[in-house]
Amino acid sequence: MMANRDIPLDILQQMLENANWAPTHGMTEPWRFSVFMGAAREKLATFLAETYKAITPVEIFKPNKYEGMRENAMLAPAVIAIGMKRQPSKKISELDEIQAVACAVQNMHLTATAHGLGGFWSTNIAAVSSEMAAYIGLDKEDRALGLFYVGYPKVDWPTGSRQPMEDKVRWVQT
Ligand SMILES: Cc1cc2nc3c(=O)[nH]c(=O)nc-3n(C[C@H](O)[C@H](O)[C@H](O)COP(=O)(O)O)c2cc1C
Repeated sequence: MMANRDIPLDILQQMLENANWAPTHGMTEPWRFSVFMGAAREKLATFLAETYKAITPVEIFKPNKYEGMRENAMLAPAVIAIGMKRQPSKKISELDEIQAVACAVQNMHLTATAHGLGGFWSTNIAAVSSEMAAYIGLDKEDRALGLFYVGYPKVDWPTGSRQPMEDKVRWVQT
């Protein structure tokens, strides 16, 4: 849960600036961000809900998901749509371009955390659709990669939880 408290613009700018320093194969810098604040979030919410309805087969359409999409964008003071701009020559693989964007998002997230802001990356069928890509000004070859919600936590800083790192690493020495 995020508090209804505005984020200073210079913090958002610092988050974006740090995102821009992510590593990138071939210096393509494929990350693109659209920052939705204020009333723009309502338009975004309507767009997401209507897109969900339009692209979901009726038999699996869930009215509560539709309603959730109408409301979720208003739960954070800033919603940053994440995009990947494909290099025209496509020499760099799509996988690498997506990984570079994820690095940029992580830089943004770490900067948010350093300023006491919580971040949450969310993907749903509408947020990663080609319709969403077009909505944020991207082209056919590009990808929408979800939404990054950012705001001050409403509660005390939440306790995270992860399974032990030992289960996920192999040390190879000989
Ligand atoms: C690429 C990506 C997409 C995600 N999409 C969703 C999502 O659609 N819905 C959701 O509940 N969490 C999603 N998450 C997870 C949350 O952003 C968050 O990382 C997770 O709840 C763990 O929270 P914590 O890092 O604060 O412990 C996604 C995470 C990533 C990296």
